[in-house]
Order: sequence, then C-alpha cells, then structure tokens
Amino acid sequence: GIPKFVKIVEVGPRDGLQNEKNIVPTDVKVELIHRLVSSGLPVVEATSFVSPKWVPQLADARDVMEAVHGLEGSRLPVLTPNLKGFEAAVAAGAKEVAVFASASESFSKSNINCSIRESLARYRAVTHAAKELSIPVRGYISILLHEFSALLVIVWEEFVLFALRMDGKTTYVSCVIGCPEEGSIHPSKVAYVAKELHDMGCFEISLGDTIGVGTPGTVALMLEAVMAVVPVEKLAVHFHDTYGQSLPNILVSLQMGISVVDSSVAGLGGCPYAKGASGNVATEDVVYMLHGLGVRTNVDLVKLLSAGDFICKQLGRPSGSKTAAALSRV
Ligand code: HMG
Ligand code: MG
Repeated sequence: GIPKFVKIVEVGPRDGLQNEKNIVPTDVKVELIHRLVSSGLPVVEATSFVSPKWVPQLADARDVMEAVHGLEGSRLPVLTPNLKGFEAAVAAGAKEVAVFASASESFSKSNINCSIRESLARYRAVTHAAKELSIPVRGYISILLHEFSALLVIVWEEFVLFALRMDGKTTYVSCVIGCPEEGSIHPSKVAYVAKELHDMGCFEISLGDTIGVGTPGTVALMLEAVMAVVPVEKLAVHFHDTYGQSLPNILVSLQMGISVVDSSVAGLGGCPYAKGASGNVATEDVVYMLHGLGVRTNVDLVKLLSAGDFICKQLGRPSGSKTAAALSRV
C-alpha cells in the first residue's frame, strides 16, 4: 500500500525562483515563504547560498533568511554548494541545509564546476561541519539525460526494459535516468552517489529527475537500484514536469514506499544549468492527488492556492498548476 502520510518539501522559493528571468524582489520572496508556511507545509526550502555570479536570482539569500528569522511552523532549509556557502548560511540563521550532487559528470561540471568526486569531498567537509553544529543536511542527486532527444530517450528506455526482461538483473538500471551519452558512466552511478551521501550523514536523499524525462518504468528501476543501498525511509523524489510525467512518477514512487515528495507552488522552477528543464511538479497538483488518495499531508489546499495565486500575479503569468487553473474556473 501507499504511505498514510506524505511529507511535502516545497522548493518553490528556491528551485522556482532560481530560474526566473527577472529577479524577484526580496519582499516578494519573503511574503511567498510566509504564505507557504501558513498553508501547513512542513518544509519550505527558502533560498541558496551559492555564488551570486552563478545564480544572481538568489543573491539576496542573507536578506531573505534575516527576514524569515523566527518564523515558526516549517523547517526552512537552504542549499549550500561548499563550506563557504555553509558558513554564510549558518551566519544568516539557517537551521538546516542541503548539498547537491549529480549522477552525471558533465552536469556536475556545468552546475557546480567540479567532478562528482570533488563534489563529494566538498560535501564531506560540509556534513562534517554541520555535524559539529547539529545541523541536519539533506542530499540532492541530479539525475539526467541531457542533450538527448525525446525519441532517443524512448528508444533507450525500450532497450533497457528489454535487457532487463532478458536477464532479470538490475545492473543496467540507473543509467536509464543517468547519462548514457557519457561512455564512462557506471550503470549504478545514482545508487553509488546516493550511498556516498547517506554514508556521510545526509538524513534524506532527494532523487532529482532534473530535466523531467523519466517515466514510471524507468523511475521504478532507478528506485529499485537506490533502495538496494539506502533505506527507503531516507529517500525523497523530485520531479520536473517537462513531459507531463511527474504525477505518474510520484504515484509509482509512493507504491514503492517513498513518503517524501518535492514540489513547487504553481509549478515554478527549473535549473538554470540544465538546458531544457521545465518547472517542478506543482505542489497544488500533488496535494490534490494525495488528498484524493486519502493520504494526509497537513497542507491546507485553499491557503496553498492563494500562495500560488500571489506569486503568479507577481510574476505576471498563469499558474503551472492544473489544479489551480481548474479551481479558479469553478
Ligand atoms: P566556482 O566559480 O568554481 O567557485 O563556482 P570558486 O570556488 O572558484 O570561487 C569563485 C568565486 O565564487 C569566488 O569569488 C568565491 O568567493 C565565490 P571571487 O573571488 O571571484 O569574488 N564563491 C561563493 N560566493 C557565494 N557563495 C558561495 C560561494 N562559493 C564560492 N557558496 C560554485 C563553484 C559551486 C560556487 C558555483 O558553481 C555555484 O554557486 N553553483 C551553484 C549552481 C546552482 O545553484 N544550481 C542550481 C541548484 S541545483 C538544482 O537546481 C537541481 C536540484 O533542484 C535537483 C534536481 O532538480 O534534480 C537540486
Ligand atoms: Mg530541481
């Protein structure tokens, strides 16, 4: 059966706003965080302490954290790519952080300017420093098939499913949502990176289909590989909706025992260093599906819709949430 309670990790203020063409004013970000917190979301990822040259959209991270200081009801983690970011985050009052690795060498290079191995060494330094201060660290893994056409993805998936049927082994698995264009990638790279993050003390590992090319078949195979090395209670899923596969991907993840789901209000989002990535799955749609399934989330959908409405008005465009669009017509 599927879990009775699902923890939703709202990533809109971070994953959403990091990808906006226009820089969103700090007070709008702060108001958005307030509204998301008051809708009952247990976790609202607030911002990133990354290089302002790389992500100018979040250059006001310190001001955002100062403004939400003392806000109660939700945990407010922030992204930290290295010790410098970790120290700045702690100085600004962050009580929880997240590190972000990749299962693809080329994406690691383009997103954080280092190899997977180097990134894991940096993150060991961050988790070590965090442990001293009793600060929980979440680990993200970006899993992607970038620079691959949709048609090739389909052909590749067919091939992997065929290969699996032929010999029943799961060793081909994680390159499915990995990076087959890199000849050197190990088939279980996702599982390897997940285990590394788990071993260094990350309390939760979020598996990100960064550009949203996965389908329930490949997601299930990827999860199977990761669940062989990290307990399912420690795993979260993070889908982008490029091909409209997020909700089925979430459903199959729940059926496999996952009970933590990342999403973004109004479907905001995308990674500036992942070409072709579209928004995250919309939180409103996730909540609608979960409540329909009888799964508790603690989220008040009406308040969440109003938070989505607020940010869409500020950005001057319609919501990426189908639930928000449907309910606004009622
Ligand atoms: P670099 O250029 O290699 O860094 O960037 P460096 O160590 O050589 O330093 C260069 C300059 O950056 C120096 O300043 C440093 O002080 C500064 P300068 O001397 O030139 O004035 N610097 C910093 N400044 C502020 N905060 C810091 C920091 N670190 C160095 N923390 C770096 C390496 C990792 C910093 C850079 O590549 C970076 O910031 N990358 C972040 C990219 C990013 O945020 N991507 C989006 C998040 S990941 C994502 O969206 C995927 C996810 O959602 C999951 C999914 O969807 O699958 C999580
Ligand atoms: Mg993302």
